[in-house]
Amino acid sequence: MPKFKIAWMPGDGVGNDVMEAAKIVLDKIDLDAKYIPADIGWEFWRREADPLPARTKEILRNTDCALFGAITSKPKEEAEAELIPELRGKGHIYSSPIVQLRQEFNLRTNLRPCKAYPGNPLNFKDGIDIVVFRENTEDLYSGVEFHPLPDELRECIKKHNPKMKKFDKHDGKDIAISLRINTRTGCRNIITAAFDYAKKTGRKSVTVVEKPNVIRETSGLMIRTAREVSRNYPGIELWETNIDAMCMWLIKNPHDYSVLVTSNMFGDIISDLCAQLVGGLGFASSGNIGDNYAVFEPTHGSAPKYAGQYKVNPMATLLTVVLMLEWLGEIDKSKSLEYAIAQVIKEGKVRTYDMGGSSTTLDIANAVALKI
Ligand code: IPM
Ligand code: MG
Repeated sequence: MPKFKIAWMPGDGVGNDVMEAAKIVLDKIDLDAKYIPADIGWEFWRREADPLPARTKEILRNTDCALFGAITSKPKEEAEAELIPELRGKGHIYSSPIVQLRQEFNLRTNLRPCKAYPGNPLNFKDGIDIVVFRENTEDLYSGVEFHPLPDELRECIKKHNPKMKKFDKHDGKDIAISLRINTRTGCRNIITAAFDYAKKTGRKSVTVVEKPNVIRETSGLMIRTAREVSRNYPGIELWETNIDAMCMWLIKNPHDYSVLVTSNMFGDIISDLCAQLVGGLGFASSGNIGDNYAVFEPTHGSAPKYAGQYKVNPMATLLTVVLMLEWLGEIDKSKSLEYAIAQVIKEGKVRTYDMGGSSTTLDIANAVALKI
């Protein structure tokens, strides 16, 4: 019996290319694992109207964690148009399988490290080392949305909040509402995860990024909870910044920041910004982490035009494998893989096109494997 069972989900587009790269380093590092392929993505949406089939969830329930490549997502109408003819017009609505996974498996912490590895020509500045903690199941991603707005709901909102009156002149069919739902538990969990991480890794500050001066209730709950939780961590400072200002400060003084913690939507945005500080999405790793299960994925999309060309940078995926190994408790393997990645970046002999080179996805993986 292998020590670990890992669900293997290449997904769409370049997901296959980068997962092949991942397999090269996992084999070299000799992880005692069985990899179990699982269906996810656009192909299953088109053919089955379900990008996350029940059989895949079953596999996840019977594995230790999952590694996931990339996913194609399209807006409602475009998605419907790509279904096979028999499935069209039956009311199927596309919903991103990664968002579904996060919710169904309660993968409440999204961990997104952004480190400027020395020698990476794409670093915005050297020495940046930021870790984003993004709440992963609530907020604007809750999926509680309305269009058209039902009259009953409109009346109910009006009863509880007079500000709704100003929309009286609009017909229900001309109003769309997406609810930002944040719970105290959700806020507490993500803030605690950020502080625990800061404590474990000897970091001196945690910056909570919100907008409580305008979004008083949801962002307010996050800030108030952060103040409360921070009292349990003497020696780690809590800084509070507004999301807009944070975008500016991250460009101006990225070295000032260490651990960032924020809600789902702001975290989605700010983590792309942070990724760009350290070389772009080709270097952005992530872990969707719950209490007993985790799904690891590079942050980038499926880049359909590059699919199967082995052109894209697999570093994001290899760094994602580093996170996975660490989460599995394989600390030595995780460290030696990260070291090998750092060496390859520093030497600069093999580089994909985004780094100004012409090496392939698998060249990079093989170069990293050689350093292990
Ligand atoms: C991410 C992605 C996803 C998100 C998409 C693909 C649904 O942008 O992981 O950051 O919005 O969370
Ligand atoms: Mg994103």
